Amino acid sequence: MNLKDKRIILTGAAGGMGSILADKLSKAGAKIAMVDANADALQVVCARLSGVIYPVAADLSSIDGCATAVDVCQQHLGQVDMLINLAGLNSFTDFSEQDPAHIEMMMRVNVLAPMLLTRALLPSFLAHNSGTIVNVGSIFGSIGFAWFSSYSASKFALRGFSEALRRELAETDIQVTYIAPRAVKTPMNDDKIMKMGEATGMNMDEPTMVVNKIIQAIESGKKDWYLGFPESLFVRVNALLPRLVDKALAGQNKIAKIFLK
Ligand SMILES: NC(=O)c1ccc[n+]([C@@H]2O[C@H](COP(=O)([O-])OP(=O)(O)OC[C@H]3O[C@@H](n4cnc5c(N)ncnc54)[C@H](OP(=O)(O)O)[C@@H]3O)[C@@H](O)[C@H]2O)c1
Repeated sequence: MNLKDKRIILTGAAGGMGSILADKLSKAGAKIAMVDANADALQVVCARLSGVIYPVAADLSSIDGCATAVDVCQQHLGQVDMLINLAGLNSFTDFSEQDPAHIEMMMRVNVLAPMLLTRALLPSFLAHNSGTIVNVGSIFGSIGFAWFSSYSASKFALRGFSEALRRELAETDIQVTYIAPRAVKTPMNDDKIMKMGEATGMNMDEPTMVVNKIIQAIESGKKDWYLGFPESLFVRVNALLPRLVDKALAGQNKIAKIFLK
């Protein structure tokens, strides 16, 4: 796919990966409605970019917020060609102590928002028999990680949604891409996570490299892509032999627990 003149809604556009992705998409000639909750951060990112970009400050944690975001994006772009669901929240915590409101927020932003944005755009995609939906999941959406229970749950759900929708749209030309990075060096991972990652030997990628893979996945029309080795192999092992992975992760879980407080 050639990205030139593609009209794209990108969520999480002010974030660690979103700001780099917006830059690369606009350099490739795409027109981008950049959605993020943080209006100030969005302005800072947009000031650095050239090309056709529209900042859209919106809170995607509610049905109304998602509906308004799509309306505003369509006012800027007209017919939309692509939705990239990149906005997300993380949590590294003991689930028994996690604030219920935070669990709800995680599911709203990581799962409901991609579903609602897709739902809002799909009638138009179907009418034109074209369109691309890109859902950015995580390796944690295929391997449940201790201390990331709600985050893992949200990304498992996003993966399931992507797979089911792709099958539902199999007889159309609408593309659904699910891309699952391993850990990435962005502000999403706070100091506690960075220290835990170091102690447990977690592989962490540079955001630019991951963004290049997202673009590659879009351009080549990939259905799903699990980034990094050996993580992509563990995804397959976990699907077939989860008890083996229970054992393999047990030691790492104990070390990670030390960094929760
Ligand atoms: N970083 C990693 O290790 C990693 C690994 C695998 C997958 N991923 C996935 O990659 C995606 C991008 O992550 P990132 O690393 O770039 O994280 P990031 O730097 O934290 O960016 C995420 C962006 O989403 C925005 N956002 C959060 N809640 C929102 C809401 N209610 N409405 C609108 N925007 C909202 C954030 O805004 P605020 O800053 O205002 O909250 C932030 O700008 C996420 O889906 C994440 O799960 C990340």
